[in-house]
Amino acid sequence: MTKVKYLLALLAAATATLVAVVVLADARAAEKEKAMGLRLVMQELGRDMQAVAGAISKEDWAMVAKLAPEIGRHAQPPAMEKMRIIKWVGKDAGQFRALDARVGQAADDMAAAASRGDGAETIRAFADVQQACLACHTQFRKPFVKHFYQRP
Ligand code: HEC
Repeated sequence: MTKVKYLLALLAAATATLVAVVVLADARAAEKEKAMGLRLVMQELGRDMQAVAGAISKEDWAMVAKLAPEIGRHAQPPAMEKMRIIKWVGKDAGQFRALDARVGQAADDMAAAASRGDGAETIRAFADVQQACLACHTQFRKPFVKHFYQRP
């Protein structure tokens, strides 16, 4: 083997090792970060709110009326996980549930307003939904991630 070929082979081997290490580290991180049911529910809520915002921009009230109930009656995490979450929120469980109920109430108001074709009221209710999301996130999101995902 010429010197150049030898060096190239060495470089290729080193690169392969580096790639393997990075891939392994990534896989480990992904395993540790395996999303809980609640995160998937939240991601869906995020997408639904974006879809509603898009429909509002087009003043497509029929579409808002169709989408709003998905937000109010969003999916729930699996029962076992729900028990873990409620146990963790402890004395704040009432508040945690109340914030979720506030999302539901505001989403119902939004659906009703959109069904009437009342744009101003639909937008007001949309803001109420978003305020309820924010209220729960402000209080619970950071400690939730810290507790369930062991992150600072
Ligand atoms: C009762 C509490 C509560 C309410 C109400 C709530 N959330 Fe969340 N949300 C959380 C918690 C806790 C997390 C952190 C979950 C995690 O990181 O696994 C979160 C995280 C999220 C995330 C980030 C998900 C990710 O991939 O990191 C999005 C997006 C989100 N919520 C959207 C919404 C929207 C939109 C609403 C309102 C329609 C809403 N949430 C209402 C508690 C709530």
